[in-house]
Amino acid sequence: MSHQLVIVLDFGGQYNQLIARRVRECGVYCEVKPYTTPLAQLKAMDPIGIIFTGGPNSVYLDSSPKVDPEVFTWGVPILGICYGCQLMAHLLGGRVTAAQDDSAREYGKTETQFDTGCALFQGLPDTGVTWMSHGDYMERAPEGFALTAHSSACPTAAIADEARGFYGVQFHPEVNHTQHGTDMIRSFLYKVCHAAGDWTMEDYKRTAVKALREKIGDGKVLLALSGGVDSSVAAALLAEAVGGQLTCVFVDHGLMRKNEGDEVEAAFSKWALNFVRVDAAERFLSKLTGVEEPERKRKIIGEEFIRVFEEEAKKAGAMDFLAQGTIYPDVIESGAGDAAVIKSHHNVGGLPDHVDFKEIVEPLRLLFKDEVRQLGRELGLPEYLVARQPFPGPGLAIRVVGEVTREKLDMLREADAIFREEMAASGQDQYLSQFFAALTNIRSVGVMGDGRTYDYAVALRAVTTDDFMTADWARIPYNLLDRVGVRIVNEVKGVNRALYDITSKPPATIEWE
Ligand code: XMP
Repeated sequence: MSHQLVIVLDFGGQYNQLIARRVRECGVYCEVKPYTTPLAQLKAMDPIGIIFTGGPNSVYLDSSPKVDPEVFTWGVPILGICYGCQLMAHLLGGRVTAAQDDSAREYGKTETQFDTGCALFQGLPDTGVTWMSHGDYMERAPEGFALTAHSSACPTAAIADEARGFYGVQFHPEVNHTQHGTDMIRSFLYKVCHAAGDWTMEDYKRTAVKALREKIGDGKVLLALSGGVDSSVAAALLAEAVGGQLTCVFVDHGLMRKNEGDEVEAAFSKWALNFVRVDAAERFLSKLTGVEEPERKRKIIGEEFIRVFEEEAKKAGAMDFLAQGTIYPDVIESGAGDAAVIKSHHNVGGLPDHVDFKEIVEPLRLLFKDEVRQLGRELGLPEYLVARQPFPGPGLAIRVVGEVTREKLDMLREADAIFREEMAASGQDQYLSQFFAALTNIRSVGVMGDGRTYDYAVALRAVTTDDFMTADWARIPYNLLDRVGVRIVNEVKGVNRALYDITSKPPATIEWE
């Protein structure tokens, strides 16, 4: 591909993916490489700049991650962040020590003063909040470096040797808590590395389509389409590239939300591909009969999914490629670098054992989630697919607490549709990471008209989260909750109570099972 590249050299910090995302948001392509990557390999990639990430270690220990000092004579601009800054200082003759006392350690939001003459901070206010998280202390900057930012505890919050294009910050510009942090990264990219800003999804689409055509030739490709964002965008990209050679198997396990199956099918009608929709609802439901335990439900659904998919793959005949919706965070987390990762798709539950493919294709393996969505839009997928919230592979089966039956699924689908409709009408859906209804296994007494009811309670769940590892319950307006509750109890037969879940994660999980 013809775009410029920045290398994010990974020293194990917790925000490294975020650094890479910020760079890409600035319109510059980057790849995360482990710090152990040989210098010759980095040079062969011909980057316009390198960012050293943070990391959990202290630079002065023998065992701590290092980089070949030749990197500093190569002539490529470098931005060091936190550990990356200390490493640069250490290797260039500065002095980094363990903080002598707590006052030199800095964690959290810190008022910082900037030298706005420095390329990194030009055009920004001269004071602002930065997010610090370092135990070590840069006592002396290396020869040739100026001090370009300071806080009350730290005279060396940022250093720069502008003649050589070396910049270091002890804080984390990639996190939202640092004011103008993305602007600082942008300045490094555009003012120091002279980036052209040539990373766009339009361009990616064009080059990816061309590359897929070359790779696949006249081969046949099979893809398991779940209706989630990743597999949908992978399908659309492949459809654009090799249309008629692509078979998408969409296993409708009967555990989708209202209208979801039809929506997925409709979205792909514009491409001439082989779309196989398997109505397997009966099959899944009969396997789930009498099963109450959440983990067993998941296992049964995962296994059944593979079985159905295998059967369909056999029917479709010999295939050359199996396509997967793997995305860049999976690749980085697997630590696999450039090696092809054959990884079970979390929405499918695993790869079929008995179907042979010559090769796996992963057309999204270099993209972050936001980029996948952007690419989906570029390919003309409808917004309801592209902006879709995460939806668990086992579907509504883990949102019906206890045994799953067709009747309970129907109730839940209606209640969930009402909740989604009202959230969208109020605009609240724009602010929330995920929201849905769950059907509890509580039955309680109510009164409707003149009669007594003994019906189910629906639980409403809405959360905000950045990473789905922790989540906060969402403070949605009472009048909205009121409308949803009234509508559900009036419109969904078998439900006489609506509850709002006010637990965060932890201690609860986002899903009920
Ligand atoms: P929990 O319930 O663990 O969910 O807090 C975290 C996020 O993961 C989603 N989730 C799943 N996604 N297969 C998936 O593809 C699953 O089995 C699964 N279980 C939970 C959940 O919706 C939330 O976004």
